[in-house]
Amino acid sequence: MSGKKYFHHQNWIAERYSLNAGFVPELGQPVVDLLKPQTGELILDLGCGEGTLTEKLLEFATSVIGVDNSLNQIEAAKKKGLLVCMADGHSLPFQENFDGIFSNAALHWMSSDPNAVLLEVWRALKKGGRFAAEMGGQGNVASITNALSNALKRRNIDPDSVFPWYFPSSQTYSAQLKKAGFLISYIELFNRPTELPGDISGWLETFGESFLFTVPSEERAYIVTEVAEELRPHLFKKGKWIVDYVRLRFLAEKPA
Ligand code: BEZ
Repeated sequence: MSGKKYFHHQNWIAERYSLNAGFVPELGQPVVDLLKPQTGELILDLGCGEGTLTEKLLEFATSVIGVDNSLNQIEAAKKKGLLVCMADGHSLPFQENFDGIFSNAALHWMSSDPNAVLLEVWRALKKGGRFAAEMGGQGNVASITNALSNALKRRNIDPDSVFPWYFPSSQTYSAQLKKAGFLISYIELFNRPTELPGDISGWLETFGESFLFTVPSEERAYIVTEVAEELRPHLFKKGKWIVDYVRLRFLAEKPA
């Protein structure tokens, strides 16, 4: 493997996200149901993206604040009139403010230090507050990560050095929640095969930049084609791309 240093790289372009990943917030309703936001409550949407679920939460709670680490996504959420600000889950500007914290398909991107993220969630919650979330769990999108890793290995690049996600098992994440002080009401890891709205290349371009940006721009399209062809026999069924998503969904409480 080459000794060159690579960095995690991810551009969040709101229009590209909506086109290739509009299904992500659409599938977030069960997490809203798990949180059960109530009138009078203040809720934090951690990793709110362009705010589709922030808006949904506002149908139930009195106030919702969204945070996201992407300026582009925050600007898209602001255009919807939502109360949002830029913040990283590793360092949240809150202290016992929220009745509930919600997060859908975002925690796996906060991969530098998942324990630190949980301590920030803990600090942001009021005593008696609840934390309802869903993230990629162990084995999530494994076909894709394998194919991307193979493409980099063929180029003498270590894929582990750019792997941008944290996909824990239920056991590992339960231990981390407990270590942070949470009581777990529910936690489940389950397969959720997910049909893409378009071609797998859109998914790879939207989410795979950390892998793709290890090579010069002119070579990225070759990697996308190579990876798509490796995946086709596994994920392309009856004219549809079905991706091997695995979700880790949980509800935890900060004791009163
Ligand atoms: C997910 O929601 O599980 C996910 C989305 C993009 C990249 C990796 C995982």
